[in-house]
Amino acid sequence: MVPMPVRRAMISGITGQDGSYIAELLLSKGYEVHGIVRRVAIEDPEHRLTRLDAIRSRIHVHAASLESYASIHQVVAQVMPDECYHLAAQSFVSYSFDDEFSTLNANINGTHYLLAAVKNIVPHCRFYFAGSSEMFGKAEEVPQTERTRFHPRSTYGISKVAGFELTRNYREAYNLHASSGILFNHESPRRGFEFVTRKITSGVARILAGRSKELRLGNLEAKRDWGHAREYVYGMWLMLQQDAPDDYVIATGETHTVSEFAELAFAHVGLNWRDYIVPDADLFRPAEVNLLLGDASKARTKLGWSHRIGFEELVREMVEADCRMLGVEPKARTTAS
Ligand code: NAP
Ligand code: GDD
Repeated sequence: MVPMPVRRAMISGITGQDGSYIAELLLSKGYEVHGIVRRVAIEDPEHRLTRLDAIRSRIHVHAASLESYASIHQVVAQVMPDECYHLAAQSFVSYSFDDEFSTLNANINGTHYLLAAVKNIVPHCRFYFAGSSEMFGKAEEVPQTERTRFHPRSTYGISKVAGFELTRNYREAYNLHASSGILFNHESPRRGFEFVTRKITSGVARILAGRSKELRLGNLEAKRDWGHAREYVYGMWLMLQQDAPDDYVIATGETHTVSEFAELAFAHVGLNWRDYIVPDADLFRPAEVNLLLGDASKARTKLGWSHRIGFEELVREMVEADCRMLGVEPKARTTAS
């Protein structure tokens, strides 16, 4: 029997939450996994590659910059990937209001450079673009599907619409197997501390450990459709296994306010969120996305993708992981007031 050739995957943004989960998934499926990282990550692996600790010896990392076509071209030519997962981005919406220029430059040019390198060097390579529910922004319908019109509310959202359109154009103009996932918010214990879910769960742990007395938050009424990152990266992989490229919404179909997340996270350790949350007007955004709720019917029907981990389980897993990190017992207090 002729052995199957090893498939080679390349991941931009491998150091991030999703990058680390998809790297693990691809290794478990027998892929040779290559990641594009910033040069500083190679020089300072103890701090910058922490999410990859468990698999560090099994992956190959290459330094390149989203700002430089030459560096991206070089890595693509060296790796010659069969599948490319383009996850690298300035991904924090709030920061995109502080630095519109670098968000647009890194996110739009980075996507364009990677698409162009793939088209020029490995046109057979299947390409995944990390689109976002932020593209819907001030959404004109609820729930949002692949057919809902985009109305982004930040340069982050605008950069993702541009990346989505570039990906579609490369599919149509150059026949590239290029797909976009329109992923709604997905979280995990590996989520960055700047995002509201991790800010809350790490805040709960710090309060329980006696290291903080309060948690300052912005808009508590914003609603998000929150799922688990480990399940969402499986959706990315499924998209690239299809005969034809396409775009898919990945979401749970359930939406919750930020305050509901906080209430559940505090209650899990027996605390009342109202005793600790301090509203902070400075944390509101100049333009907010008030309500996101996804309809993943197409992914369910065509990819066979669905989520299993619900809202409560997600909050519990994140709170418990943050408590463990600080060495506190989440069940130390049992009565929610
Ligand atoms: P994340 O944890 O913030 O990871 C972002 C990754 O991009 C990191 O590896 C980061 O590298 C890299 N990166 C950022 N700026 C870069 C630059 N200028 N040059 C090179 N690399 C750069 O994000 P995530 O949650 O895993 O999300 C992955 C992708 O999905 C992103 O494109 C995000 O916009 C998109 N997305 C996320 C969600 C979600 O809810 N998580 C939903 C929809 C779409 P460093 O470690 O060096 O900073
Ligand atoms: N970060 C943060 N910090 N958000 C807060 C805070 C706070 O203190 N207080 C309230 N919020 C609100 C924000 O205003 C927003 O409405 C909501 O909490 C979620 O904010 P984030 O967790 O920062 O995520 P996001 O929805 O803006 O963006 C994430 O999801 C997108 C998909 O919809 C990111 O992962 C994006 O990269 C991703 O595309």
